[in-house]
Amino acid sequence: MNWAIVFYNIMMNIRQGYYSFLGSGSCRNVFDLGNGYVVKIAKNMAGIAQNKSEYKISKSDKSKLFAKIIQISNDSSMLIMEKADKLYNLSYIWEYFNVKNEIELFELMEFQKIKHEYNLELGDLERKSSWGVIKGHPVIIDYGFTKEVSQKYYF
Ligand SMILES: Nc1ncnc2c1ncn2[C@@H]1O[C@H](COP(=O)(O)OP(=O)(O)O)[C@@H](O)[C@H]1O
Ligand SMILES: [Mg+2]
Repeated sequence: MNWAIVFYNIMMNIRQGYYSFLGSGSCRNVFDLGNGYVVKIAKNMAGIAQNKSEYKISKSDKSKLFAKIIQISNDSSMLIMEKADKLYNLSYIWEYFNVKNEIELFELMEFQKIKHEYNLELGDLERKSSWGVIKGHPVIIDYGFTKEVSQKYYF
């Protein structure tokens, strides 16, 4: 696979309006590639930093808690991630992990582990928009906000 060509084609298709827009946060726009994957496009330097940290986490992660990333562009401005279905209610997460609230959720070993391993701000996981659902399993879709990124770009 020539990823430079893949990313070039994706960029052209976005300009032509071929992909539907899924949403955006403070630093990235997200489009549906229509094949089970999404592309996240950085809007600014913070977006590039979050793409980088998300890619790094996805590459080393074995927890199944994160939507997987298959490739990042050379300049880190774009990345391709598994598409997740929308999460309609955070209570789906509590039920899935068998806890009553986010306090109990964050106490679980697997969440403590990702917090320390990746320096993640778990507070973001209180927001519905940080989560999606893939084949019935909840996954984190917005996980580039590490402590380093937060200190560098948000203070
Ligand atoms: N893997 C995904 N599958 C489906 N929708 C997604 C995915 N990643 C992001 N989105 C949508 O795009 C929005 C913005 O993505 P996000 O990663 O939160 O960007 P930002 O880093 O700017 O906050 C999300 O709120 C969600 O609606
Ligand atoms: Mg977000």
